Amino acid sequence: MRRVLVTGAAGQIGSELIPKLREKYGRENVVASDIREPSETLSDGPFEQLDVTDRDRLKEVVKEYDVDTVFHLAAILSATGERKPHLAWYVNMDGLYNVLEVARELELTRIFFPSSIAAFGPETPKEMTPQETVMRPKTIYGITKVAGELLCDYYFHRFGVDVRGVRYPGVISSVAPPGGGTTDYAVEMFYAALRHKRYVCFVREDTVLPMIYMPDCLKAAIDLMEADPSRLRHRADYNVTGMSFSAGELAAEIRKHIPEFTVEYRPDFRQKIADSWPRSIDDSAAREEWGWKPSYDLAATTKDMLEKLRRRFKEESP
Ligand SMILES: NC(=O)c1ccc[n+]([C@@H]2O[C@H](COP(=O)([O-])OP(=O)(O)OC[C@H]3O[C@@H](n4cnc5c(N)ncnc54)[C@H](O)[C@@H]3O)[C@@H](O)[C@H]2O)c1
Repeated sequence: MRRVLVTGAAGQIGSELIPKLREKYGRENVVASDIREPSETLSDGPFEQLDVTDRDRLKEVVKEYDVDTVFHLAAILSATGERKPHLAWYVNMDGLYNVLEVARELELTRIFFPSSIAAFGPETPKEMTPQETVMRPKTIYGITKVAGELLCDYYFHRFGVDVRGVRYPGVISSVAPPGGGTTDYAVEMFYAALRHKRYVCFVREDTVLPMIYMPDCLKAAIDLMEADPSRLRHRADYNVTGMSFSAGELAAEIRKHIPEFTVEYRPDFRQKIADSWPRSIDDSAAREEWGWKPSYDLAATTKDMLEKLRRRFKEESP
């Protein structure tokens, strides 16, 4: 049985990964941690307030709970990173370095580090972006992700730390709001459609980006962490994707359920970031090496998101 620590657990992905891991490994065996206070969804098991830039405290928590596996989610995302580049470098690089150092020193079994499609840049082929390709991102967030992938490779080859990870596309989910990324519009649109029937979108209508729905996002992390090590030829850089669509196509899909929904397109600084990222992803390496296969397309995601949010809004204001 694993003893798991999740950093950045109060965020968009952590809020849904924690219940999934607790179901799988037992409530007491999964320690949630974040720099901020826990949300309600995290409070049914151990929680520690933990800043990943504080290596001594990280080590203390790992020792206290006898942790052998870390899902390292704490990070500053792309849009916030462009507003606060120094913070993004500090949290993303020192945080990862601290996790890898603790893993090396205390001989932890396995580490998960999510990279991102932000690791690609404008010179990267945009359609069916290959596993191995040009990696010259223009955002500080993307730079920390490429450097992070390389650091993970280094720790595996130099010190034998079994660190694994995927390059997530934009994540769509209904529990915790997204944390300041460039693909946040794809989540905000659902909330706005239900609450106000209108949305002002910060990218152009024809902006196409790869996305993944939360159940597939969690499946990717858990399946890769359980994968047979002898089959893995990559480390923290597996391309994965669920679907690709334009902002306009998402609005049209939502309109099938809420016909009066309207969207106004007013691109801001995030348009430039979106334009530097791939439109679709070739995830064949993940499919071949650890059996990756997503379940949700745009239609299934939209239907499920609207059902889940409707139920939640009803519960919140009966
Ligand atoms: N959500 C996406 O669309 C997406 C896409 C690609 C990759 N990722 C990656 O997945 C991981 C999780 O993303 P998310 O969407 O849940 O992000 P999020 O912003 O929702 O959550 C990140 C969490 O990290 C915490 N945090 C920030 N600084 C910290 C620090 N110094 N110490 C401890 N915790 C700190 C924040 O409080 C937040 O709860 C990140 O590494 C992100 O880069 C996310």
